[in-house]
Amino acid sequence: MLRIVVLNPKGGSGKTTLAIGLAAMYAVRGLRTLLMDFDPQGSSMRWLEKRPPDRPAIAGVAAYTRNLAVTRSFQLRVPPGTDRVIVDTPAALEAPKFHEHVREADAVLVPVLLSDIDIHACSRCIGHLLIDGKIKRRESRLGVVATRVRPNTIIFRTLMRFLDQMEIPVVTTLRDSQSYVHATELGFGLHDLKPERVRPELEQWNLLHDWLETRQQRSDTGAGASSPPATPGQPGQTATP
Ligand SMILES: Nc1ncnc2c1ncn2[C@@H]1O[C@H](COP(=O)(O)OP(=O)(O)OP(=O)(O)O)[C@@H](O)[C@H]1O
Ligand SMILES: [Mg+2]
Repeated sequence: MLRIVVLNPKGGSGKTTLAIGLAAMYAVRGLRTLLMDFDPQGSSMRWLEKRPPDRPAIAGVAAYTRNLAVTRSFQLRVPPGTDRVIVDTPAALEAPKFHEHVREADAVLVPVLLSDIDIHACSRCIGHLLIDGKIKRRESRLGVVATRVRPNTIIFRTLMRFLDQMEIPVVTTLRDSQSYVHATELGFGLHDLKPERVRPELEQWNLLHDWLETRQQRSDTGAGASSPPATPGQPGQTATP
């Protein structure tokens, strides 16, 4: 099983789009996928309700609700046989809460929009994940996903330089595309759309898929704490604009 947490306290940074996209990608690939939504806005769960029954199934847990009839751990349990757990987190999540969200994660993805304000917020988020979230860089489970990207901009290069210094990989960059908006309205992920319509977008997701697969191998072999640090230029890294 692979547990992937999508986290960035900055509102509108692309968390839900990334989380539902991952869930659809794995479901379409035939993996048993569970989507957990910790955001009281319930955007991921609303998307799941819209998902047509003829699309590959995704299980959902509305983790933002409290079911007083059962214990919290029962409510958040992962059914046996689950292959992938994708966790969507809320905006304005406070740093002291990072650890409880990421402690069991095999991969933590921070989506970031490319604006000055968002890049500043992203750098704070990374700092808090390392300190409050207790993520060690040598565990190589932390990655950034740059979203709605126009690569040849100064701001993009600024982000790359910052992450380079922090030794955090940019796993992929997702272009600004109306296909995400269109798919989300239908309860689809990008992988539910006709591939010929979204070929460039899918190539960007393949990089993310491959990086996550190597997290899976690491978690299977118990690698992580004793592994060498992640360095920019690792597989899936797309720092070159
Ligand atoms: N790559 C993309 N191309 C075009 N639009 C995008 C892309 N990624 C996200 N969006 C749009 O940006 C908006 C914000 O994205 P999203 O809801 O995923 O962010 P969020 O971080 O989950 O927000 P919140 O903090 O409110 O939960 C949405 O309207 C979404 O459709
Ligand atoms: Mg959201």
